[in-house]
Order: sequence, then C-alpha cells, then structure tokens
Amino acid sequence: MTSAISVIGTGYLGATHAACMAELGHTVIGVDSNVHKINLLRDGLAPFSEPGLADLLRTHVASGRLRFTTDIREAAEQADMHFVCVGTPQAASGAAADLTAVNAVVDGLAASIRRDCLIVGKSTVPVGTAARLRDRVAAQVPSGVSANVAWNPEFLREGHGVEDTLSPTRLVLGVTSAGDERLLRDVYRAVIAAGTPVHVTDLETAELAKTAANAFLAMKVSFINATADLSDRSGADVVALADVLGDDPRIGRAFLNAGVGFGGGCLPKDIRALAATAEALGATDAVRLLAEVDNANIAARERVVDAAVELCDGDVTGQRIGVLGAAFKPRSDDVRDSPALYVAHELHSRGAKVRVYDPEANVNARAVRPELRYVASPDTAARGADLLMLLTDWPEFARLDPAAVAGLVKHRRIIDGRNALDADRWTAAGWQLRAVGRGLRRADAARAAIAEVGSALGRR
Ligand code: UGA
Repeated sequence: MTSAISVIGTGYLGATHAACMAELGHTVIGVDSNVHKINLLRDGLAPFSEPGLADLLRTHVASGRLRFTTDIREAAEQADMHFVCVGTPQAASGAAADLTAVNAVVDGLAASIRRDCLIVGKSTVPVGTAARLRDRVAAQVPSGVSANVAWNPEFLREGHGVEDTLSPTRLVLGVTSAGDERLLRDVYRAVIAAGTPVHVTDLETAELAKTAANAFLAMKVSFINATADLSDRSGADVVALADVLGDDPRIGRAFLNAGVGFGGGCLPKDIRALAATAEALGATDAVRLLAEVDNANIAARERVVDAAVELCDGDVTGQRIGVLGAAFKPRSDDVRDSPALYVAHELHSRGAKVRVYDPEANVNARAVRPELRYVASPDTAARGADLLMLLTDWPEFARLDPAAVAGLVKHRRIIDGRNALDADRWTAAGWQLRAVGRGLRRADAARAAIAEVGSALGRR
C-alpha cells in the first residue's frame, strides 16, 4: 500500500527522505519555509551536493509523485503521515539543542490538521521531546481527530544519504501503539522486505538511540585521535595500530581513521546536546565522558595547527599555506563545524597567507570564512607555498603527483591531516611529510620523549 506523506524541512535529511519516499512509491509533499530552496526542488534540483539525489528529484518531480510547497497547511490537508525533518542546531545560548523549528512545525501542523494522521519525528532531539510534543499536539487538534506522535530517528550519512535511506542499517520505530507501528511498517514495507532489521521501541529509546549512536561514533574518532597523539609521542604508527584494533570484531575498523577530527552539522552539536540533557538528568558520568570526547576533538585540530607552526620554523606570519579541503568530509559541500576550516582560519589569524581549495565546498566556505582566499585548483593552492596541508580526504588529493606538485611549491613540506597520502611516494619525491599519528611531531622530539619515558620506567 502506498501512502500520502509529507516531509517537513528539506535540508540534507528532509530533501533526501522526501525523494526516497517517492522512490518507494509514495505520494510525497515536501515543505520548507525557505522559498529559494523550494523553488530549486520544484525544478527537480538539489539545493546541496548529495550523490544520486538530483536524479531522484528530477524523476519524481516530473512524474508528479513528489511536490514541494512553503505552506504547511497543504501538507496538513493532504497527508496521513508527516515526517518532521527540520534542523535542531546547537542553541546560541549554550550546548543544548535549539528546538524552535521542531516546535513551530508541530504547532503549525496541529493547528491545521483536520484528518487522522501520524506525526513522525526524524530530527535529532533530546530524549523526552517526543512525549512532550505528543501532549502539545493532543492539546491543539480538533476533537474527533486523532494525531499521534512517533519517533523514527535517521542514521543517514551525508554523501551517502540516498543509499542510507533506501538501504538503512536498521529502522528504529519509536511508537506508543501497535497501530502506529503498523502504519510505519507499511510505509517502509519495501525496505523491511529487503531484510533491514527493525527495532520497535518506546519514544525515549528511539530518541536516545540516535544521539547515543552519534556519540559513540564521535568517541571512536576521539579515541583514535588521542591514540594518534600517543603514537606521535612514542614513535608508533597509528594507522597500523588502527588496523590491528579493527581486526577485532568487537572493535571494528570503521571510524578509527585518525586525523584532524570530526566536524559537520551532527556529531559536534549532538554530543554537546546529549551532554546538556545528561546534565539536566543528573547523569554525571555521561556528562564527563562526552565533555572529554569534545575536548579531545578540539585538541586534535590544535595539534595540526601546532604542527604547521613548527614546520614553518615556529612562526607562520607571512607564510604561504596551501590548504586542500574545506568540507567537513569528502563527497560533501557542507562546511558546518569543519575541522579543515577551523585549522585554515586559525593559521590565517596567526598571520599566514592561506589559500584554500575544495572540489565542492569553496562557495559555502567563503560564506562562513570570507577572510580566507579560495582558489580553483590544487595547483593554485600549492603554487609558491611554504607549506601544503591536506585537511579533507577527497580521493583526488590522494591521487596528486608529488613530483609534479614539488615543482609548484616554494618548500616541499606537507601535513597530511587525514592519513590519506602515500607517505613513501611523497618522501621519495623529496617532501618532508608529517601525518597525524605517524610522525606529526618532530622525530627527534618523539625519540627523546620515548627514551626519557623508557629509562624512567626502567628505573622503577
Ligand atoms: C553522522 C553519522 O555518521 C550518521 O549516522 C548520522 O545520521 C548523521 O551524523 C546525522 O546525525 O545526521 P555525518 O555527519 O554525515 O553523519 O558524517 P560522518 O560520516 O559521521 O563523519 C563525521 C566526521 O567524522 C567527519 O568530519 C569525518 O571526517 C570524521 N571522521 C569519521 C574521522 O575523522 N575519522 C573517522 O574514522 C570517521
């Protein structure tokens, strides 16, 4: 059975969800208050870079199965199920999530609903939000109309949004009735039939499952980055070490890539929001753990900044630094809380002349960091550079020819902030290469430190 669905909020999550629901055969109406975005979507165009999305939008807008509007009342009139996909950014006033958009959407829906329906939250929210929204909706809908709330968190990764929505690792259905579970199972029938595991939970578990998953991923990255620091101080190789850890199925190799740390619109703000919720609930162990994950992430960025300063003989003033990458990760034009931009900005503020190249994110980066210079190719970033830095692991950077790039720079010095380069090739071409967790600090300093520790421990 196909359903009439609305998807409210057409960011990375909502636009992808709307297009994929149409792909699954449903009639979908997408809603957003941003007129520019809605106009693009109406023309079948993706407002951001997401592989495969533009094709789905084009196909289903053309077929009429997928429509877009700025008027939430249209959604309330036409759909039986409303997916809430609006953003929950970090509040300007602190670490907690800002729920203004979620509240506004639910109020807007509740005020216009005239038919029985299910409101399904997908936005990442603090545990307890869904139950509160349920009461809020019940207090507003006309008598005789049933409008319940369920929570169905989303685990899609930017850059893999379409595949993650059509073939997710799992579905979490946070419901308060068997009827709501049935409705959701119907909507996801094809996905479930393909073998996707389904977890039916209460609302609170569903909400927490999402933030806990992101917190765990963040913790893995911070763990390996703290271990990278340990490797740099001891002469160990963090990539080899991660491979050893990763072969243990209890640990797993994914999310153990050491580098300049995690960023994006989700992991950083989600761990802070979870810490704020934990604080409010008195879960002090979780507060401490999450704070350390955050601190370790910022420290990973700072170590790369320090390494750049060290490689420029202690002062970056007037030094030309070519930065490869601005997006928070490859295959995305998203620069929210991007570690690459953090490092580039930090070096600029210390007097370096920074030139940034990103295959897709230059425009978005310029909007948030206009003080940096953006160039149209890796070669232009490298030309005349005293130091080159790889900060986002786009595959095209790994394919750069070290001998050719050597002809462009002033000094053959490169920091690999993502362990993406073949160190032997670059070194053979005469480059001084420093990589995170594989000699980011000066080799003589690391050797001296380990000798000192070794003899101190040996004396005990
Ligand atoms: C993350 C989660 O992975 C998704 O499951 C979740 O649905 C999404 O947040 C969300 O809440 O919406 P995303 O923000 O797209 O997805 O990015 P990730 O692929 O998780 O990467 C996050 C950051 O960690 C990136 O900056 C990446 O470069 C960094 N990272 C990742 C590492 O530094 N090392 C690794 O080994 C893996």
